[in-house]
Amino acid sequence: MAYLDSAASAQKPQVVIDRELDFYRHGYAAVHRGIHTLSAEATQQMEAVREKAAQFINAASAEEIVFVKGTTEGINLVANSFGRHLLQPGDSIIITEMEHHANIVPWQMLAQEHGLNLRVWPLQADGTLDLALLADVIDSSCKLLAITQVSNVLGTANPLRDIIARAKAQAPALHVLVDGAQAVMHQQVDVQSLDCDFYVFSGHKLYGPSGIGILYGRRALLQQMPPWEGGAMIQQVSLSAGTTFAEPPWRFEAGSPNTAAIIGLGAAIDYVSALGLKAIHNYEQSLMHYALEALQQVPTIKIYGPADRVGVIAFNLGEYHAYDVGSFLDQYGIAIRTGHHCAMPLMVFYQVPSMCRASLALYNTQEEVARLMAGLQCIHQLLG
Ligand SMILES: Cc1ncc(COP(=O)(O)O)c(C=O)c1O
Repeated sequence: MAYLDSAASAQKPQVVIDRELDFYRHGYAAVHRGIHTLSAEATQQMEAVREKAAQFINAASAEEIVFVKGTTEGINLVANSFGRHLLQPGDSIIITEMEHHANIVPWQMLAQEHGLNLRVWPLQADGTLDLALLADVIDSSCKLLAITQVSNVLGTANPLRDIIARAKAQAPALHVLVDGAQAVMHQQVDVQSLDCDFYVFSGHKLYGPSGIGILYGRRALLQQMPPWEGGAMIQQVSLSAGTTFAEPPWRFEAGSPNTAAIIGLGAAIDYVSALGLKAIHNYEQSLMHYALEALQQVPTIKIYGPADRVGVIAFNLGEYHAYDVGSFLDQYGIAIRTGHHCAMPLMVFYQVPSMCRASLALYNTQEEVARLMAGLQCIHQLLG
């Protein structure tokens, strides 16, 4: 199988599987609970991954790293804690037209329930954002910009340092949340140099386990934010005097964590770090150039998004529905993603019901891209 669907979820290297298995076999215990050795060691391993994740994205400290289920939960945490408690009715939130539903729906829900305005930074036909148009949507009522680093459909890599600097200059009380779900596996991320306030990503797209992700939050902000879920993340619980909460990040981690997945995520971070994000980026970019050149030769293909892109190639083939193309390719042992890609507003923008999407990861090869191309040519030959 040529697996060209890593943007949906990546395959796992053996070291990730082994580390998780080893934890279950030899080190498993509840964390932050017991004084016995096994519990203390499991806690220490989990907290070491928090440290590793902080270094991975250059956060100032491990206390800025919250373990969440994934990008979606991280964004919902910010919406329900920061959004409900630090934003006021009448404030505005900006999103872009290229966002994944995970970075649209929580803000729509919050806006509706909390009396906020949701503004949309429109897309250009080439799949990029016009920085000049930011001035049209932003003003001093804007308190949050929630933006993806890399589009999961178009592969557009937004120039975030520039965008964040401009946005904060135009709206001084603005905070910025970056959806890094499609970025962390392709390039080195530095949250301090980006100057973002929140950054979220999922472990399963970074060659790590499912059910684990990271929310980075600037420390001063996390300290102002109340918990969004209640549980054992407390200092004191009294039936008469109420509850006082643990410090961040533990305040945001109610319930027993997915410890084995956290340990596995640590192995995934070690794995990509050992290969080097620079080397991964260079390899994937050369594969991307090869793939774009090859696919452009397929008759009737329409490729969406800018020439300069990261990770994914979304396309349609003539009048064929994406599901038909995807099913056909599947018969030839080629796995791509088809549908609306959890970005329905983008489908409306391009006036299509669906798209095909091939994604390229560090383990993909030119031979697999050539198979994709041959499969697409075959559809033309068979169906005319
Ligand atoms: C850009 C982007 N944001 C958010 C998500 C949601 O990630 P998860 O399902 O891991 O929470 C995805 C998943 O495809 C994505 O591509």
